[in-house]
Formats: sequence, structure tokens, C-alpha cells
Amino acid sequence: MSDSIKKPPSDATGLRKGLTSYGDSGFSLFLRKAFIKGAGYTDSALDRPVIGIANTGSAYNPCHGNAPQLIEAVKRGVMLAGGLPMDFPTISIHESFAHPTSMYLRNLMSMDTEELIRAQPMDAVVLIGGCDKTVPAQLMGAASANIPAIQLITGSMLTGSHRSERVGACTDCRRYWGKFRADEIDQQEISDVNNQLVASVGTCSVMGTASTMACIAEALGMTVPGGASPPAVTADRIRIAEQTGAQAVQMAHDRLTIDKILTPEAFENAMRVLLAIGGSTNGIVHLTAIAGRMGLEVDLKALDRMGRDTPVLLDLKPSGQHYMEDFHHAGGMSTLLRELKPLLNLGAMTVTGRTLGEELERAGPGFKQDVVRSVANPIYPQGGIAVLEGNLAPGGAIIKQSAADPKLMEHEGRAVVFENAVDLATRIDADDLDVTADDILVLKNIGPKGAPGMPEAGYIPIPLKLARAGVKDIVRISDGRMSGTAFGTIVLHVTPESAIGGPLAYVQNGDRIRLSVLNREISLLVSAEELAERARKNPVTPPTADRGYRKLFLDTVTQADKGVDFDFLRAATSTGKTPRG
Ligand code: FES
Repeated sequence: MSDSIKKPPSDATGLRKGLTSYGDSGFSLFLRKAFIKGAGYTDSALDRPVIGIANTGSAYNPCHGNAPQLIEAVKRGVMLAGGLPMDFPTISIHESFAHPTSMYLRNLMSMDTEELIRAQPMDAVVLIGGCDKTVPAQLMGAASANIPAIQLITGSMLTGSHRSERVGACTDCRRYWGKFRADEIDQQEISDVNNQLVASVGTCSVMGTASTMACIAEALGMTVPGGASPPAVTADRIRIAEQTGAQAVQMAHDRLTIDKILTPEAFENAMRVLLAIGGSTNGIVHLTAIAGRMGLEVDLKALDRMGRDTPVLLDLKPSGQHYMEDFHHAGGMSTLLRELKPLLNLGAMTVTGRTLGEELERAGPGFKQDVVRSVANPIYPQGGIAVLEGNLAPGGAIIKQSAADPKLMEHEGRAVVFENAVDLATRIDADDLDVTADDILVLKNIGPKGAPGMPEAGYIPIPLKLARAGVKDIVRISDGRMSGTAFGTIVLHVTPESAIGGPLAYVQNGDRIRLSVLNREISLLVSAEELAERARKNPVTPPTADRGYRKLFLDTVTQADKGVDFDFLRAATSTGKTPRG
């Protein structure tokens, strides 16, 4: 028997890892090598460290339209560093091509990623993700699989131009659609702008969830330095891919497993960055889910305290005016992290084997630019996201204060209630809808179990008759999420959700609701006795399903405060809270 197909030891690496069970491990390796040699590999190639590459290219996912070029560059990097690259397909999810909502499939993608990492021999894995749910799904799966893992972001799309105005998905998509609804632009113009909003492959060009998760991945230490910001179609992005491949080989040599990177300190850095970039509210849900895989609970109150001393520095839409490619030209994450340095855990480990502080030193001094503000001159004095509490949301709710109308952040109004998304669609534009600009729109049953999948329907449209009268914002409340590209005075993630009998389920038309962002309060001004009586008269029956993924989802999905992960996927034991203090 040749050396290369002897019975492998239990701490086997490379192709000898995780052999298929035939009851004879020597035979298992012999068979595995026989099959892979059918693809033309030599023994020399098969003796190298194996680097898996999670390929999320899909015709249904234009945000990953550069996946073939990225894979080619990653492979080059892996081979230059002496490894053997092996790409493999996983589920890919695009925001606009997933029914009922991409979030419904995030946990499935995380399971797919985890199990394929476990099942196939690889000493490290490169995770190619970009569109909103893909990066969190990959980090969740890799966290549970706990091998050396490195994130490669696909990168943002380029911006387009509509009648000389610079535009990009998807803040401008919503803005133009709002104009169309208000009869400010005609059918021809809305068709014209449709061609310009997405000017190339890549992820949304504003600080939506994809850009947020890209910045968070770099802040966590999960990308090579500078990995968050290069646009999808640039040479910089391809170079990052080559570097990522080479770094994965080094990580395999060093056995730099993901648990050494995803520490409480790393999550605190990620939360600082989430707040300082005016990031998507979805970032909280995803960070909570990733942390949960490491046994960490996200402490929303501590996160809110962190927000009070973390200003928004990044001048990107929807909180500011620039786009992701401008952020890249301004130096990307190193420019932002340099400003945040006093607030960061600089000793946190990164995929390079160096700490975040060491990487910042290597990045050198900054330069003059106008996309990342200084702490002394922020876009917004506090973190972009505030955590609310009150009898309407005993488990918490959030608001993106940096994208809200300051005039509405201290507001009491009359509830105008929609029972679910269908009810909303049926009545929101009705001429006889009893609503004024001082009212508060309440949408039920769009939480984790309600819709199901907690869709981004929390960005309730302004009722047509108000939009036509020039109303641009109104207080809105739901148990759902909203796109990171959206804006307005919008309370989200009300927990517990209405579909499992949270207080939101019992709000009625005409109830008074008080929102005070200053006091972090969201209150239903109805007595506890009255609410209990409403619950007794009309008890809520949580939704169920008979079979398949829907049954798994409805039986096991957790609430927003647990990251909307499946309960059985979270770490079995708790290791503490994040952020600390
Ligand atoms: Fe993919 Fe926005 S739709 S990032």
C-alpha cells in the first residue's frame, strides 16, 4: 500500500479528513482518491492542504454575479500559497428572488453551509457571500462547524445615472417609487430609472444590510484588511479574492479556527461599527444569531448604552449622502476604524493571525476625505440604532434613529391597525382609510412566525392619500424588519411578536401609543386589565405547518432577541453576554 493511502490518523488533514464510512478507513481514502483522480488530479496536488470555497454564484443572484471571477482569483491565491482549492455549491439567496422573504431561507443556508463544511474534507473554507442574508448565514454555519474560515465579500454594485442624477439601489429605488406613488413622476420616468438603479453586478450600493454585513465581517476580523469595501467589478476586489485564498492556506497551517476570532471582543467591535456606520437594523438580528452560535447572548440594553457614546461617522445613504464606492475611495474600513480606535478592542484576533490593532498600524496614516467624519464632527451624535422598551414590546424593539424624522421621535398618536400584510395591501391606499399624518400605523403578523420569516414589510408605505398631500414620514410600528436601505420613523422587531400573542396582537384602532426615542420608550396607553380581557376574548393561535421546512421553521424559530435562528442551532451552553457592561 502506498504511503498516501495508508489508514489515516484521527487528526487527519487535507483529503484524509472526514472519510466516508465504509468500515475501513484505508479503503475509504483509496476510493476517494480514485474518484478525484478521475478529474485529473495528481498525488502531489492531493497531498496539499485543502481549501474549500463556498460558491454562491447563481443566475438568481446578480449580487453574486462576479462569483466566477472571484473563485478564479481565490484559487490562484490558494495555489500560490501551496494549497489545493476545491469549490463547492451552496444555497444562494437574493433579496428580490426569495419568496416569501429571504430571511425565511437564511437558517437553511446556514445549515447547508455548516453541514457541507463538516461533510467534505477541507482544512479551511473561503465563504463567498454578499447579498443580505448570505454573509450572516455563512458566518453562522462556519461558527458552528468551527474550522478555519475566512469571509470573501462579493462587493457593491456601481452607481448609475438617471437624467444626470447619481442613483443606486436601493434607497433611490424607494425614493423614486415614493415619487411615483405620489404622482410626482410619470410611467415613462419610473421605467427609465428602473434601468439605472443597478448599474452592474454586486450588492446594493448604500448602507443597506449587505454593506452593513460586509463592514461587520471586517470588524469581526473575518475578512482580510480592506475586504469590506471594494466594488464587485474592480481590480481591488479581485486582488482581495487572491489574498483571501492565500490567507486561507496560512490559516489552515496555523489551525486558526473561527472560535479564536469570533470572541466577545470581536462582537463588541462589530456592534461599535454597526452603530457608527448607521448600519441596517437587520445587522442586530444577524449579529445576535452569529453570537448565539458561539454561546453569546446579545444584551440589547448594553447595546443601547454603547450606542449613546458611539456617533454615526459614515456619510452613506440612507443616513447620509454617499455610496459604497465612495467609502472605498475614502480608504474603506481602515479610515473608519482609525476614527473609532479609542472605542475598539484592539487586541481582537483577525484572520491574518494579527490583531485588529496590529492591522490598523500596518494600514498607515489616513488621508483627507469627506466620507468618514471625525468623532468631533459626526453625522449623528449617537449610534444609528436605539433600543426601545415598554408594555408594547416587553422583549424590546428597535428604531433606526439616524434615518428617522426628528420631529416624530417624541410622538403620541392614534393607532391605525392592519392585521397582516394582506390587510395592509388591501386598505393602505383606500380613499376612505381613516388616517392622518399624526396617527401611528401598526402592522401585525409580520414577525418570525407570523409571515413567516419576518419579512422586510416594516417599511409600511405612506397611505396614498397622505403621500399625495405631501406627507413624507409617519410613525410606523411592526414586529417585522425593514431593509437597511429604507428610512423613516419606523419601530421594528417588536418582541414578542403578535403571532405568538405578544401585546402587539391586541392593539386596536383608536388606541393611543407613545413613542419616545429620548426615553427609549414604546408604550401602548391601554391598561393591563383591558389587554388581558382582549387576550381572553380573542386568544392568538400560533401558526403551524404539517410538513417540510415550513414545519421545521415554525416549530423552532426563535424571536428577534435570539436572532431568529432555529433554537436547536444555537450553542447548547451559554458562555456570557455581549456587549459587556
Ligand atoms: Fe442583494 Fe441588495 S439585493 S444586496
